[in-house]
Amino acid sequence: MSSGAVRTDLGAVLAAAAAALAGEPEHDRTVLLARLERHWPDLLDGLTQAYGDRATELAPRVVDLAVAGFLARPAELRLLDLRRHVEPDWFQSPRMLGYAAYADRFGGDLQGVAAKVPYLAELGVTYLHLMPLLAPRPRPNDGGYAVMDYRAVRPELGTMADLSELAATLRASGISLTLDLVLNHVAAEHAWARRAVAGEQRYRDYFHVFPDRTIPGLFEQALPEVFPDFAPGSFSWDEGLGGWVWTTFNTWQWDLNWHNPDVFCEFADLVCFLANAGVECLRLDAIAFLWKRMGTDCQNQPEVHALTQALRAVARIAAPAVLFKAEAIVGPAQLAPYLGTGPHTGKVSDLAYHNSLMVQVWSSLAARDARLVTAALRRFPPKPSATSWATYVRCHDDIGWAIDDGDAAMVGWDGWAHRAFLSDFYSGRFPGSDARGLVFQENAATGDRRISGTTASLAGLEVALESGDPAHVDLAVRRHLLAHLVVLGFGGLPVLWMGDELALRNDGGWADDPDHAEDNRWVHRPRMPWEVAERRHVQGTLEHRVWHGLRSAVRVRGRQAALHAAVESELLDPVNPAVLAFARRAPTQTLVALHNMSEHPQGWPRWAVPLDGPLVDALTGTPRDDDIALGPYAVVWLVPRA
Ligand code: GLC
Repeated sequence: MSSGAVRTDLGAVLAAAAAALAGEPEHDRTVLLARLERHWPDLLDGLTQAYGDRATELAPRVVDLAVAGFLARPAELRLLDLRRHVEPDWFQSPRMLGYAAYADRFGGDLQGVAAKVPYLAELGVTYLHLMPLLAPRPRPNDGGYAVMDYRAVRPELGTMADLSELAATLRASGISLTLDLVLNHVAAEHAWARRAVAGEQRYRDYFHVFPDRTIPGLFEQALPEVFPDFAPGSFSWDEGLGGWVWTTFNTWQWDLNWHNPDVFCEFADLVCFLANAGVECLRLDAIAFLWKRMGTDCQNQPEVHALTQALRAVARIAAPAVLFKAEAIVGPAQLAPYLGTGPHTGKVSDLAYHNSLMVQVWSSLAARDARLVTAALRRFPPKPSATSWATYVRCHDDIGWAIDDGDAAMVGWDGWAHRAFLSDFYSGRFPGSDARGLVFQENAATGDRRISGTTASLAGLEVALESGDPAHVDLAVRRHLLAHLVVLGFGGLPVLWMGDELALRNDGGWADDPDHAEDNRWVHRPRMPWEVAERRHVQGTLEHRVWHGLRSAVRVRGRQAALHAAVESELLDPVNPAVLAFARRAPTQTLVALHNMSEHPQGWPRWAVPLDGPLVDALTGTPRDDDIALGPYAVVWLVPRA
């Protein structure tokens, strides 16, 4: 077949791929062609849903990119692909524990991170999300979320070679490296943006550019503002472009025009490139925003899922070891499709952030009440069994009070009032609150006040330590541990935010860096105080208690079949409203988790534990029969006694 011809049928696509693979070992060729045959329909469907007829020409072009990606894939990673094939649920294992950190703040640079692998291994970490480390624009760059070059590492951190080496070191310790794929926008300084400014039409078409405010004005009628404080609006005038460019986030983060198939091809190629550097999971940053449609909020459009399916097909052909993790901070109904619903089931992301669980944990701790969390989580549709939630208590971002009015009404609460209460509570304004959060992006139009702060400071530890009262400190530590235990027990891939294993408090110096002064999310993005980390070995210290509390729960977790991520958590009726209770029924084990969300002793009747026979608390090994007494902020994981 001549290279210019359009290959629309699978036979032709396979023949072309076979020719390109002629020089490869026979088993690799066989495997690749089998994968191509398997995922070609998903690729074609996804592209057709997004691009219509243009998919006919596009799909073979994308296959060429995937095949080229495979050709460049190192032998060690090809082997990893096969290993993952024989254990496709590896990331759903209860032994998984994630950790997220900025490379510079955790280890100084990439080699420094490699030197800290023993620390991660000691904690039981099996998955490491390093915050954006591909070359960003000069500061400010939103903590790296404004990428200037996806094929280079930030010079202060090292090189692409260092990155591959770090990935290999991590892999050797059983830790999978996750990196962000920032695909909604690039830095205004990215070569694509510069070439657009220089007048190259091909690159101007990579962005949404408008000559005047007419169309932007129409879009803005339905668009929410992400950063109303420091970057109001969703479009920015650019002198060089002589037009208004779409900028959902900051003015220097230019949204890419995914309606243009060339943009898709760039990212198909980047997926292969990063996979071949040894990245095992790609966090799809701000994925909800990819597709723009007039009259909508331009989030969660159906094409987002079609494009993800096509991109996932590329990865499954070229580098199937790689997982996709959706960062879609959206409501439950909009969230489910990111893990796959309808025809996309099993074909989009493997992991998605469980933002609601995180919000509900904080909400129920403030209210000392488990009824809303129960009602809200019950409304979640079950996810495809081959996918997993990424669960977390805190991450690098602020907390937005995603409490649904309908959920609140189900327990007789007013959604708006509860959200306002949570902002008051976590900013410490509510009478009796010990929380030390900072208000982030107060929105005068909606009344929203998001919150920044570390887990420990939000859990009241900072205030408690200042009080000097050991009983007060004890309660705050219990709250800190409880929040993590909910997440560890809920099922999914729990991801710890750096420093939470030591209960680090807010960073008082967060605003000293002038580039950070406007963005108080830096209050919970400290530099790792390694001297403080040493105290985890010293009995009687706060760090020792928190570290070992988490570490031992992580160990116990790894042995519970019911905590495999394919199993769903069933929320139990809150017969005691202060107790959050759920059951997890795996074929070989049922586990019932009870959490006292208050500082007062609580009880849970034995009849309300859906398990027969004698029980034991897996966390402590203590037999638990009769009614279950729960001390302040106590957690038990009940399983049948062997
Ligand atoms: C994601 C990141 C956030 C960033 C935004 C823009 O939401 O988590 O930190 O500001 O994307 O890239």
